[in-house]
Amino acid sequence: MIKGVIFDLDGVIVSTDQLHYKSWKRMADKEHIYFDDTINHRLRGISRMASLDIILEIAQKKYTDQEKLELAKYKNDYYVTLLEELSEKDILPGVMNILEILKRMNIKIAIGSSSRNAKKILKNIGLFDTFEAISDGTNISKSKPDPEVFLKAAKMLNISPSESAVVEDALSGIEAAKNAGMTAFATGDAKSSPIKDYDFEDLLEICKK
Ligand code: G6P
Ligand code: MG
Repeated sequence: MIKGVIFDLDGVIVSTDQLHYKSWKRMADKEHIYFDDTINHRLRGISRMASLDIILEIAQKKYTDQEKLELAKYKNDYYVTLLEELSEKDILPGVMNILEILKRMNIKIAIGSSSRNAKKILKNIGLFDTFEAISDGTNISKSKPDPEVFLKAAKMLNISPSESAVVEDALSGIEAAKNAGMTAFATGDAKSSPIKDYDFEDLLEICKK
């Protein structure tokens, strides 16, 4: 029986994909490293530093740890300015409706995101107080597909992994949910995952069981 639903943030609650793209592209252009939408896709659900490593795979130069920190900061400083433009209108269609229904069903709701900007994003879109727990990039040491972010969210909700559902748009996130022993619901790209349990559209029906 599902007692709580843990939502990924980027690509599930709000679309920040293009903002990440613009910010990484600006950094890659500065460093003369090729970057396109296909590479950007590989960064979904992946932490900031792990994302940077993926972008640098094709770089000519070998970067020191200090240089990598500076590049990640360069990207994030710009990304944060773009986040200021986010508002309630950027909440993805259907999300508010689902959250209200889950609340009425007494099903707990949490965020499970790799982003260190999750709380800022939630504040900007007016949903900071909506979730009972927020597990994000600031309280984890391992990026998805490691299950850490979801296990911590379930713990905050005081429910077991088998009572937890996860909604994810990234393949790495579906893997993380399954590694956590949770029921995985897919949206967007993640729908092609061979290990997902259901699609996001099936969530309410499964929660009724
Ligand atoms: C989410 C996004 C990723 C992003 C990660 C870290 O999982 O899907 O694309 O790299 O968060 O985001 P941050 O805001 O901490 O740089
Ligand atoms: Mg996502």
